[in-house]
Amino acid sequence: MQGFPTELPLNGIGDAAAFALFSTAIQSRSARLGDVHALAHMDPPPLDIAARLVGLNAEFNQNMLHREVSPFATEVEARVIDWLAPLFGMRCGHFCSGSTLANLTAIWRAREAGAQCVIASVDAHISVAKAAHILGMPFRAVAVNVHGRLNRTQLGDVKDAVVVLTAGTTGRGVIDGLEPVACRWLHVDAAWAGPLRLTRFSARLDGIEQADSVAISAHKWLYQPKDSAIILFKSPDAQDAISFGGAYLATPNVGVQGSRSAAAVPLMATFVALGKSGLAALIERNMAHAEALAALIAADPRFELKQPPETAVLNWRLVNGATDAVLAKLAGTTSRTQIDGALWARQVAANPNADITRIWAQIASAS
Ligand SMILES: Cc1ncc(COP(=O)(O)O)c(C=O)c1O
Repeated sequence: MQGFPTELPLNGIGDAAAFALFSTAIQSRSARLGDVHALAHMDPPPLDIAARLVGLNAEFNQNMLHREVSPFATEVEARVIDWLAPLFGMRCGHFCSGSTLANLTAIWRAREAGAQCVIASVDAHISVAKAAHILGMPFRAVAVNVHGRLNRTQLGDVKDAVVVLTAGTTGRGVIDGLEPVACRWLHVDAAWAGPLRLTRFSARLDGIEQADSVAISAHKWLYQPKDSAIILFKSPDAQDAISFGGAYLATPNVGVQGSRSAAAVPLMATFVALGKSGLAALIERNMAHAEALAALIAADPRFELKQPPETAVLNWRLVNGATDAVLAKLAGTTSRTQIDGALWARQVAANPNADITRIWAQIASAS
């Protein structure tokens, strides 16, 4: 933070100087997610059309809480929900700032429907246990099978539960079996892999249409800047139970957030600019990247590949036990996770500009 004030400044340096100071720091001290070597996290380089419209929305300080402030964005959000919900067998929903909130919203709605506890696999995202905690509901984590999917034989009594299945687990990118569960409410956390529904891999998410609600992070595999996610519901009136009117509001406030940005605008613009086919091509390129890297890893006897990538996430480790030391050299290219208490490298192919030959060369030479 050299060059930045350590105390709250009494007098300012002016817009131009402040912009120069901060923009230089942002550009020099942020990871380049679109770099040919970047393949580490569920954070894509956002598409230019989307990033530019986030900036324009900010200039107008759009607020989805007040229709009269954001008439265009309000119509856009309704249209984007109308476009996307049917892909998941859903009928209504709204945007929110991330799938942490989308999961909280779904579990809150499930509680309003009578669910008394939350059940998910041990590999479900922490936001699920966190939501249960916030809502005062007991949380039960079910073991996963050898493939990393929730082990259905251990589900037990679910009739009063909200069961959360994950489509694309955070650590391994695994899709839980999406067959129906006889529970009070079935939620699918498709934060990561939901966008596969736009692609030729759509069938991997078959069964999702049986859910009562679905969460998707648009700031992950729809290449949007943060904060952009969607919570979708099957029942057309599902949002009534999570909407609150107020004397100062023209229309009831739906969901957890009050004021929120017009994140649907950059997403709709992305679809208009690229088409569904253009977005699908980007996601399919990421799938091909993950498969290519998995093949290289599997062919090298120094490495162990955990499983073939199902949703462009893969895990590997070194058979000589040096994974930790190698990961320290690969920060930025590779991330880490624990599987069954052991350390594994984690690659997430969210970057369409990645160059797998160069990434593999870097991994191989660090090993
Ligand atoms: C499966 C899954 N669910 C939920 C989340 C939380 O999403 P967000 O970071 O958008 O709040 C994540 C984040 O990585 C995730 O991987």
